[in-house]
Amino acid sequence: MSPDHASGAPQRLLVTMALPYANGDIHLGHLLEAVQTDIFVRYQKLCGNEAVYVAADDTHGTPVELTALRRGISPEELVSRVREDHIRDYAGFNIGFDIFYSTNSEENRLYAETIYANLKANGLIVEREIDQFYCEHDKRFLPDRFIVGTCPKCKTPGQYGDVCESCGTIYQPTDLGDPHCMICNRTPVMKQSKHLYVRLERCEPFLREFIARPGLLQDDMRNFVKAWIDDGLREWCISRDGPYFGFRIPGTVDKYFYVWLDAPIGYLSSTDRWCCDHGRKVEEFWSRDADARVVHFIGKDIVYFHTLFWPVLLENSGFKLPSTIFVHGFLNIGGVKMSKSRGTFILAKDFIDKIRHPQAAEFLRFFFGAKLGHTAADIDFNAPEFISRVNTTLANNFGNLHHRTFVFCDRYFDHRIPDAAWDASIAAEVESAAAAIAQWYENAEYKSVVERVHELGNRGNKFFQDAKPWELVKTDPVAAAGIMVTCINLIKSMAVFLKPMVPSLVADLEGQLGLDHPLSWGDHAFSLANRPLGTIGKLVTPLTGEDVAPLFPPAETPALPVTSGPSQEPIDIDAFRKVELRVAGIVAAEKVEKSKKLIRLQVDIGSGTRQILAGIGESYTPEELIGKQVIAIVNLQPASLMGHVSEGMLLAAGSADGKPILLAPEKPVLPGAKVS
Ligand code: 2FM
Ligand code: ZN
Repeated sequence: MSPDHASGAPQRLLVTMALPYANGDIHLGHLLEAVQTDIFVRYQKLCGNEAVYVAADDTHGTPVELTALRRGISPEELVSRVREDHIRDYAGFNIGFDIFYSTNSEENRLYAETIYANLKANGLIVEREIDQFYCEHDKRFLPDRFIVGTCPKCKTPGQYGDVCESCGTIYQPTDLGDPHCMICNRTPVMKQSKHLYVRLERCEPFLREFIARPGLLQDDMRNFVKAWIDDGLREWCISRDGPYFGFRIPGTVDKYFYVWLDAPIGYLSSTDRWCCDHGRKVEEFWSRDADARVVHFIGKDIVYFHTLFWPVLLENSGFKLPSTIFVHGFLNIGGVKMSKSRGTFILAKDFIDKIRHPQAAEFLRFFFGAKLGHTAADIDFNAPEFISRVNTTLANNFGNLHHRTFVFCDRYFDHRIPDAAWDASIAAEVESAAAAIAQWYENAEYKSVVERVHELGNRGNKFFQDAKPWELVKTDPVAAAGIMVTCINLIKSMAVFLKPMVPSLVADLEGQLGLDHPLSWGDHAFSLANRPLGTIGKLVTPLTGEDVAPLFPPAETPALPVTSGPSQEPIDIDAFRKVELRVAGIVAAEKVEKSKKLIRLQVDIGSGTRQILAGIGESYTPEELIGKQVIAIVNLQPASLMGHVSEGMLLAAGSADGKPILLAPEKPVLPGAKVS
């Protein structure tokens, strides 16, 4: 796949995330996928491509029915309430849907009926009479989530009737061990019922050819799906007995389409709706020969539906098949699966409401970007790493380069980007980075983008520091102007590269640069000189342990271990306890003038930021210190060193050559965590 700036012609794309069930709130797991998709769409738009981001609520079936039942409202009422919440939650994270529709729409009904009629006409529908669980008490059949029991494969109890959430196996409800009705908890009886099946096995040659298409799936996923096919495709039951919240199947009295039939059709019907609203034709995206790409983003738990069922539905109605299905892993919180009982189930609205930082949502987008690669590996969210990643790259690398450069231009160049030539080698480095970054965005390999942008920031900060513009401006103002023009243009390039991930932050920078148009991909090239800046201000305020504490309180301090061991002068434990050691995150660092060793640091100790002077200048440059976590003594009497106040001390060990090496926690922890 080549991005448009390489081929020149704008491309057309239809991009989807999995449609969230309309039975509950949006949580961080949903957001991971929404952000992943949004970054891809924003990148495409940045390049001038037409990318339409289609989403909707997945409204039918037992998850919605059961929740409505528990809340004592109708499924329709639930769907309409949840929709408002979903739209609000996604908007809080700047997810730029072109449409957020619903699978409970007339368009979706029509597409579902048409697709079903085509499957039937192609001889792919068969009726079978089967045994099914029936609850005598509730007088209803018990499909999918109305029944719980033990997974026939991995034996995990408490699994629903369609898929095991533990091992991912898809099975029939009747395969469950120890089945119980979800409504009344009674053991159901067996009753016969007629159902409609898609003869998937007849589609095997097509599916084999489909999943082998280059660019469709990550390699590991392709092997996974191929193994399912090798295992033998089974007929897929697409009907459910009434009462069922969904579309009634034409030609039947009381049968409804299974939610997983009309859910993906929601991609199609929502596109149709968007097209109608915008004077466009759905064929421009979904007809087989449309000059467009359909790209899906999904979690690894729903690969089966998207690679085996969905293509069969599309193929038999002459629709375009997806070009790419990006599959991501699960989101864990602090190394464990999200779970309500463990308190690791984080809702989008709690994230927004509780974290005390106005850029928290933008930071989460960035964090997900920094973690997401072209793989279905699981991703972990934990507060220390969140803080560290955001501060290391956004605040202390990008933000620092921005701040020092803009402040300098403001002060010495009359609030202008001066008129001078930029550094050709940095401009060339940016060009080569741009080619790699474009490819990474195309492959949803965002973490490599972040790494490369961080390297560019390191280069820029070092360039600034080595050039000493604060001295140069007095002796050679033209040379100093060249340093500033280079740094400003580098900041602009980094902003272009980061824009899909942190669009609000970059919008702020666009204003500060005094641009009269939003940055697009081509603006990564150096072009700015001799023009006024806009109103400048701090771009990123570092995230602290205090900011996140309402959502992620620091872990309880473990009991102090009683240790014994040799020391020159034994002290008792109380003497040791008097020393308050804490983990500190370095948020800013600079050399103390006229000192070889002293570095002035600002460190985040959870309850706030403080200044510490450390004699580590022979071992570290200020740039490499920023973002590191270290151990600080925080209850020392403040001292004055070379005219600067130091409110603490960092722990360090002497290396072989006698230079101090800082001690650090073995894994990131929350700033302010007690050391004991
Ligand atoms: O697993 C889920 O949450 C489903 N609601 C995803 C549906 S994706 C698409 F097929 F609609
Ligand atoms: Zn019952």
